[in-house]
Amino acid sequence: MKNQSLMTKLLALCRARGFLFPSSEIYGGLNSCWDYGPLGVQLKNNLKRAWWTDMTKRRNITGLDSSIIMHPKTWEASGHLEGFTDPLSDCKDCKNRFRLEDSCCPHCGSSNITKSRNFNLMFKTFMGPVEEDSSLVYLRPETAQGIFVNFLNVQKSMRLKIPFGIAQIGKAFRNEITPSHSIFRTREFGQMEMQFFTPPEESDKWFEYWREEREKQLLSLGLTFRWKDHSSKDLAHYSKKAGDIQFEFPWDWDELEGIHHRGDYDLSRHQKFSGKKLQYFCPEKKISYTPYVIETSIGTGRLFLALLCSAYKQEEERVVLKLSPHIAPVQIAILALSKKTDLIDLSQKIRVDLEKKYFVDYDDSGSIGKRYRRQDEIGTPFCVTIDFESLEDKKVTVRDRDTMKQERISIDSLPSFFLKSF
Ligand code: GAP
Repeated sequence: MKNQSLMTKLLALCRARGFLFPSSEIYGGLNSCWDYGPLGVQLKNNLKRAWWTDMTKRRNITGLDSSIIMHPKTWEASGHLEGFTDPLSDCKDCKNRFRLEDSCCPHCGSSNITKSRNFNLMFKTFMGPVEEDSSLVYLRPETAQGIFVNFLNVQKSMRLKIPFGIAQIGKAFRNEITPSHSIFRTREFGQMEMQFFTPPEESDKWFEYWREEREKQLLSLGLTFRWKDHSSKDLAHYSKKAGDIQFEFPWDWDELEGIHHRGDYDLSRHQKFSGKKLQYFCPEKKISYTPYVIETSIGTGRLFLALLCSAYKQEEERVVLKLSPHIAPVQIAILALSKKTDLIDLSQKIRVDLEKKYFVDYDDSGSIGKRYRRQDEIGTPFCVTIDFESLEDKKVTVRDRDTMKQERISIDSLPSFFLKSF
């Protein structure tokens, strides 16, 4: 790993400040499972909201929330039953089981390993009280299939004309052989996916369009990244062409988001396996056809981790998370300098006013220096300190997280000050 210490420090901060905890920790944890703490869930919800707004603010993108467990035929049609596998090997010396990427064991280096066999990554379970083959179901390995099977339901109920898109945020599950880097590769994870249905002849144009749109949104969150296009041998079974947006994580550049040109693969396969027509009737041309699909797909946890890695700064006298003010879990901290009743009353009044529009934290204990450090570590863009003079001059001190500059501002002008700052 290029920067092991950054990852270690970041995870320690996440735990100490309530962003991330190992799952079921009192029982020793469960490999690759994580819980988002109070600030973690707030940050994650802010990311989801930013993605959802960016997608659904468009007149031709609508939302969906489909179920995690789907009819098992879905996975035959999608190709996941047959093709969603990783090569698995066992080391005859150290007895570890691993995903075969090289010709030797990644744990002990031995080349005394079994021939690789295909391991399907889908989680299985049983529907109902009888555990038999006929009740076998799967936890979805991607949210996309819920969108494909609902293509006509959404199109008809919302009277949509092609091109249009369907956006969905939800959990997906993959029995990864080698989960890694905390929330980067887990077995249970969030996905934010959008499938955009286009006439076949316009699909290349929309593929380029969505690459640019996704760039814009990630840049607005303060991320820098690079593209890695897939060669034909790296393409997933459903893809005609694809590009990954990669972020420089502490270990290396790695995949953050995928943009895939899925052609008519999914809709055609679902038509074939269900025997139901999944075609669009174009009222202008008076023809029916199977649209092509451009997909954007990003892991919620991966975006969360990338943003934290990019925001984490170790400065001479402090650690600070320079998160974009729009997504910070706490946007404004109200700090009353003492517990004197008048001061607390005034501080609470300011808190109640600002809370109508912003995520606000309130703190009136401990030294002001320590309180500033804590807010820096959780990425709070502004602190508002109420002191004894505030009672006289009706002014407060606003501290900027990034410059640490302090400004005396009248209480009345706080709303316009923050309107400019967010
Ligand atoms: N529907 C297309 C699809 O699922 P993918 O490249 O397999 O494509 C899309 O996954 C995104 O989902 C990835 O770019 C990544 O952000 C996220 N992702 C995939 N597997 C993951 C895992 N095991 N843990 C966390 N995130 C994952």
